[in-house]
Amino acid sequence: MAFERVCSLDDLWQGEMENFEVSGTEVLLIHLDDGSIHAIQSICPHQEVELVNGSLEGKVLTCSMHLWQFDVSSGEGINPTHAEVAKYPVRVDGEDIFVDTKGIEPKFTLA
Ligand code: FES
Repeated sequence: MAFERVCSLDDLWQGEMENFEVSGTEVLLIHLDDGSIHAIQSICPHQEVELVNGSLEGKVLTCSMHLWQFDVSSGEGINPTHAEVAKYPVRVDGEDIFVDTKGIEPKFTLA
């Protein structure tokens, strides 16, 4: 495990998501309304589209391009179910958010 400090809680309010580079990997950090924080791959597993441009409702992220949907708390695809996004471990220590990307590659799914 190699957790790296990404930002502070003040940088990512509840309901917000933002891209960060962590150890050379582009990561989408998401702060859900329930207070939980999740890190997933920044690119949609379907095509080369930034998921940060999608919409977030509860824990469901919808890609802006073809409306594929993912549960950001598990990384599992909701529609289609055979797609999934890579999840990175997140740790919150005080006000700081840490993410570990070591050994985890983004996932890609053909339609
Ligand atoms: S690029 Fe995201 S659903 Fe197609």
